[in-house]
Amino acid sequence: MIPWLLLVSLFCNSAQDGHSEEDGVFHCGSRNMTVKTLTQNTTLKQTILLTWEDEPSCVSVRDVLMYELELLIANKREHWEEVAVTPDQIGLTHSWNWTSHLALECTDHTLRLSSRYKNQTSGRKREHTIPGHEALGMPQVFPRDKPFEVGSRATFCCVLPTGEVLDKFYLSGSSNSHWNESQISTHTHVLTVDLSQPSSASGTDVKCATKKSHNGACAYIGYPPADQDLSCETRDLQSIECLWTVGRNTHLPQSMQTTYRLLGSECAEGFKARCSHKMQVDAGERLWTLTAQNPLGTVTLTHMADLTKRVHMFAPKGVKASKVDSRNVHVEWEWAVQTYNDLNITCQVNVRHGETHNSTSQHVGVGLTSAVLTDLIPNWTYAMMIRCTTTQHHWKWSEWSSSVTFHTLGDVPHALDVWMQEKDNKTVITWKVPLANQSHGDIIGYDITWAPTKTPERRESTSVRHPKNTLALSLDSMDEYTVSVTARNSHGSSSPSAVTVPILIPGGGVVKYSRILGSNGGFNLSWSTSPSASCGYIVDWYPVMGTSGLDWLRVPPSETNVKIFSKNLEEGKRYLLSVHACTHRAPVLLERREGYVKEKLIQDDLLKPLTWTQRNSDVVVTWKRVSLQEQPAFIQGYVLYCWDNNNRRVRNISTDNPQATSLTATNLPIGSYSVTVKAKTAIGQCGATHINATLNSLTDNLIWAICITLVTLFGLLSLFVILCYRHWECIKQAFYPPIPKPVLKDKLMLSSERCCHPVFVDMSHHSEAELMAIPKLHCKSEAPETDCVDRRPAAATNRYYEEPVEAFTIPNTAITCPSPPPSSLASLSLTQTSGVLPPIPQPGSQETDYLVTRSNGYQPQRNTEQLEDAPESLLPCVMTYIMLPQSRCE
Ligand SMILES: *[C@@H]1O[C@H](CO)[C@@H](O)[C@H](O)[C@H]1NC(C)=O
Ligand SMILES: *[C@@H]1O[C@H](CO)[C@@H](O)[C@H](O)[C@H]1NC(C)=O
Ligand SMILES: *[C@@H]1O[C@H](CO)[C@@H](O)[C@H](O)[C@H]1NC(C)=O
Ligand SMILES: *[C@@H]1O[C@H](CO)[C@@H](O)[C@H](O)[C@H]1NC(C)=O
Ligand SMILES: *[C@@H]1O[C@H](CO)[C@@H](O)[C@H](O)[C@H]1NC(C)=O
Ligand SMILES: *[C@@H]1O[C@H](CO)[C@@H](O)[C@H](O)[C@H]1NC(C)=O
Ligand SMILES: *[C@@H]1O[C@H](CO)[C@@H](O)[C@H](O)[C@H]1NC(C)=O
Repeated sequence: MIPWLLLVSLFCNSAQDGHSEEDGVFHCGSRNMTVKTLTQNTTLKQTILLTWEDEPSCVSVRDVLMYELELLIANKREHWEEVAVTPDQIGLTHSWNWTSHLALECTDHTLRLSSRYKNQTSGRKREHTIPGHEALGMPQVFPRDKPFEVGSRATFCCVLPTGEVLDKFYLSGSSNSHWNESQISTHTHVLTVDLSQPSSASGTDVKCATKKSHNGACAYIGYPPADQDLSCETRDLQSIECLWTVGRNTHLPQSMQTTYRLLGSECAEGFKARCSHKMQVDAGERLWTLTAQNPLGTVTLTHMADLTKRVHMFAPKGVKASKVDSRNVHVEWEWAVQTYNDLNITCQVNVRHGETHNSTSQHVGVGLTSAVLTDLIPNWTYAMMIRCTTTQHHWKWSEWSSSVTFHTLGDVPHALDVWMQEKDNKTVITWKVPLANQSHGDIIGYDITWAPTKTPERRESTSVRHPKNTLALSLDSMDEYTVSVTARNSHGSSSPSAVTVPILIPGGGVVKYSRILGSNGGFNLSWSTSPSASCGYIVDWYPVMGTSGLDWLRVPPSETNVKIFSKNLEEGKRYLLSVHACTHRAPVLLERREGYVKEKLIQDDLLKPLTWTQRNSDVVVTWKRVSLQEQPAFIQGYVLYCWDNNNRRVRNISTDNPQATSLTATNLPIGSYSVTVKAKTAIGQCGATHINATLNSLTDNLIWAICITLVTLFGLLSLFVILCYRHWECIKQAFYPPIPKPVLKDKLMLSSERCCHPVFVDMSHHSEAELMAIPKLHCKSEAPETDCVDRRPAAATNRYYEEPVEAFTIPNTAITCPSPPPSSLASLSLTQTSGVLPPIPQPGSQETDYLVTRSNGYQPQRNTEQLEDAPESLLPCVMTYIMLPQSRCE
């Protein structure tokens, strides 16, 4: 074949050369010219593809043969180009392509092809015309439904029906500053637009109108894909899954959405930005490639990873709690994927109870399918869920499994928090009712046992029913007791919690005592460190008045301040706060505070009944001491205002003594006055009480006074004589021989003043030792002042001192009443025994139901009849507080 061709070509060359030499006319040209239009799927660009062959005569050509290509649009030259064909290409099929900015339908596109050899142009020209679209009846706009990139320049044409004239040709939503319009032929108008805005989802309209009709086309203006951040993982080691983030919206219609190919194969759910493929995942890094393509462009994302280190496990399924007991539970689950059984897996188990309890524990193992949860609260409902990951190469946690609830079994209750309070000569043992998460079952009751610390064999016990949480015990104040309390539910008793009740006789009666004012609805209490506080501090507080409301806090040894906030704290109520050192024996009282969370104004008529008496030209106004209950603020003194008939204020007298019970307006002229007394507090004067006083002439008053005095004296004398006469025998017997002092009748016995005033003093006859050995009668005063008395000797007396509160010691004083049966006439002796203070009387105390009286030994509740059983006994009547200056009681 080749030798034959060579022969032919040699022949031709010689012939042609000879020929051209001869007539100078070059006949070599093209043949079999074809013109095709190609529409590329992705860009919808219209391309003209031209192919041709050389004529057989060209075989003789020895030099470069040039083909000239001319493209005319609407008969105007748009493009001209030369294609060189070298001798070795002669005989092959040549091709040339050209992409028009204008849609081919717009108008006629004509191609002309001619050849040239050595500056000789062949006379033969081939021509081919691709005819434009003819508009029949209505204008036609091209191109149709074509995508354009935002920022590019687009060309549209409108082909008008014959004889019609263009009226409007525009791109909707675009301003005409962005386009130029021109006419390229009788029927065709062209619009060039700079596209700056992406289309809406339905595309952008290109509209063309004549006077008669209008038509349009749709253009899609958008962006090429902008996906990024490819990341691949495996969930089961049998398939891969890649995720990426879709960049901006392409604004192209559904038919032009981005398509994705992962490692060359199409992604069915690529629009969800995820693509998965079934394939065995092997160890080792490899490149994962994703292509994203739309009509406007393509992006390729790559990710280099070893997917065996990127296992994103599925959540465990079939989670269940098996073997539930009170504090532990055994959890089991299954894997949806077999291959997990070979992996070293770490799982987190989350257990929660509502909002209050939420904890997560971690468990590791190969093919882990179970875990044991510990430290759970008994009798408690939990919700549990699990998530897992591979231990070695943690990539991502699985989703949480579905939540499973379980209920732990009950158990004995948690140990109680026990504390005590001295009240009404009794020790009130109190404990905090266990919270739901401490009771571990329904609490039935509490068991209390107590014994003197030194003689534990003298143990006694009792029980109370839930929810009662106090027990008043009458303990021997000379002994230290250990009281322990357990809570009981159907599962048994808690471990005992003990509190040591100290000996009530004060060893050191010194305690710091001061006032405190609350802030923000609570108390901010701080104290100085105590070396004895080996196990921290206990801060307790309760309203000074009333029978209940004791609460306490335990503070670690390192802390010396505490903020007390409780919903039970009330404004205008006086609280007593105590700081105790916790020791391994009995707690030690360190400091006391008294105060209000917030002081409140005292209501009017506080001082009723207000009475007045005339003393010469003075008016003495007196009132009853204000009980603590009526003091919603610290009273700092009183002030008296006195107005005369003309409403002029004539006197203004004040005292800074909060214990004052009278004020005197001196040197008032005879007349009527209106008197007002108010209490002074830190927040202002309040509790205003009014009275009207009329001052009479002195002589009238004098006569009246003398008469009344005489009548009273006579009456008293008569009474005295009668009494003495009737009881002469008793008197003689009781006071003979050693008592040289005046006597009292039994009717008057044990009234608080007589009992406790050192009226009948006979210290010489009773030594201290004797007195100590003898049972004592603890007298309770009936005076209202007892409001102010603390049951603890050390602290109690301090209560009387309003002002700069310093630590001080109380004189250890007690008064003894010798019991003189049968007349029961009491002779009282003041001795130097250590006294026990009477407690604050608590009218209406509720604790009597729970009073447990010690069955052996000392009986503090004895009445007069019982006293007669021990005729020789001396009964110390302890009224220490009476020894204190009463006028300072608040
Ligand atoms: C080219 O044209 C010649 C005649 O002009 C014809 O014989 C031949 O078959 C054509 N070749 C092709 C490939 O169409
Ligand atoms: C168009 O011509 C260019 C070179 O000029 C060529 O790379 C391309 O493949 C041609 N396109 C077609 C469809 O033939
Ligand atoms: C319109 O014509 C002006 C002036 O010839 C030119 O500056 C501008 O770029 C053209 N705009 C378009 C969209 O063709
Ligand atoms: C699983 O991983 C843990 C933590 O890295 C490791 O202590 C344990 O030995 C591993 N177990 C096995 C069987 O490889
Ligand atoms: C019990 O519940 C209380 C609140 O109701 C909470 O302060 C306390 O920490 C819980 N105790 C335990 C052991 O979860
Ligand atoms: C409470 O008292 C402590 C110690 O005195 C102090 O540091 C703290 O600021 C106080 N807090 C408030 C709220 O008063
Ligand atoms: C306290 O004891 C004393 C003396 O034993 C007694 O007089 C007083 O009434 C007792 N107080 C109460 C409230 O029981």
